[in-house]
Amino acid sequence: MNKNIAVILGDGIGPEVTQQSIKVLDAIAQQFGHQFTYNYGLMGADAIDKTGNPLPDETVKLCLESDAILFGAIGHPKYDNDPTAKVRPEQGLLKLRKVLQLFANIRPVSTYPSLHHLSPLKNKQLEGVDFVIYRELTGGIYFGKKETNAEQTQAIDECTYTKEEIERVAHLAFQSAQRRRKKLTLVDKANVLETSRLWRKVVQELSGQYKEVAVDYMFVDNAAMQIILNPKQFDVIVTENMFGDIISDEASVISGSLGLLPSASIGTGSALFEPIHGSYPQAAGKDIANPLGSILSAAMMLDHFGLKEEALQIYKAVEWALSNGFVTKDIDQINNYSTSTIGDLIRDFIENRIPSVVNKNNIAISKSTII
Ligand code: IPM
Ligand code: MN
Repeated sequence: MNKNIAVILGDGIGPEVTQQSIKVLDAIAQQFGHQFTYNYGLMGADAIDKTGNPLPDETVKLCLESDAILFGAIGHPKYDNDPTAKVRPEQGLLKLRKVLQLFANIRPVSTYPSLHHLSPLKNKQLEGVDFVIYRELTGGIYFGKKETNAEQTQAIDECTYTKEEIERVAHLAFQSAQRRRKKLTLVDKANVLETSRLWRKVVQELSGQYKEVAVDYMFVDNAAMQIILNPKQFDVIVTENMFGDIISDEASVISGSLGLLPSASIGTGSALFEPIHGSYPQAAGKDIANPLGSILSAAMMLDHFGLKEEALQIYKAVEWALSNGFVTKDIDQINNYSTSTIGDLIRDFIENRIPSVVNKNNIAISKSTII
């Protein structure tokens, strides 16, 4: 299979984690006889520095012409504490989501037994946690009218949803539930918000088409609590843009490290794959960030291309690395490996170059192979 992949390295640790995914994708291409071509584009603070624009037109064109987009991370502290900044890195990502109509952001949450000790939750709450959040990504308060009055004493962010916007993401969530454990939870605030009442109405109507899926409804404040108290109860969650942003970050801590979680944003055209973590500027360039969120996002990309066996190889490699203690500093403060070494190990696993008994002493930081 030939695929053109747009690569946006982005800000902070984005470049170094994405480079590991490319290593891994190259190994997959070689093992399975595919050809992946990478074309690079700018976005975020990096693009502002180089062009003045957080999303240059060339990047949009590149993404529209590609089969998929692999993206690193966005954001820089120099903009975070300056509410007056007119141009912000995040505008690039928001605009790209809108232009590509990436209306569904899919964030799977699962746990790895070897990482249970890192989770703030207790073991008994963690076993068997496996759910996926479908977050609406191109509507709601993120994209509503924004205004500040002339005196700078009042500001407005409008939240709007149409039936069609709700339906298209809800269909995807229902279909996912059909393939999984057949349970869908709509997270909303229907006791207060008009938009949430529309979400309930639309999801209730659609449920007639997915009779085998059990639907329940949960207010977002309660959902925030339930995700921590009893995460096992969830199978597929569907929710609007901002609630999804918040609860998916919350859910990410269950697994033990934010650095592990991947995401896919899909819509009408080419889809985008990115780890859910941010740009982690304190770690940028230090070769210490966890590349697994990005590598697992690349696996989601392969799945999206229909390359199930290839994606499975990556999932296996990641499980192997985690269960053998080949982890970055966020996971083990004392015995850890660099970002690029983890990338090398995942690549070596995929290329069947890992001996059955691994001598950990052979794996020096930054050494390219353990053989
Ligand atoms: C995310 C991020 C973005 C969002 C930011 C960077 C605009 O937090 O992808 O979750 O809020 O959607
Ligand atoms: Mn977020």
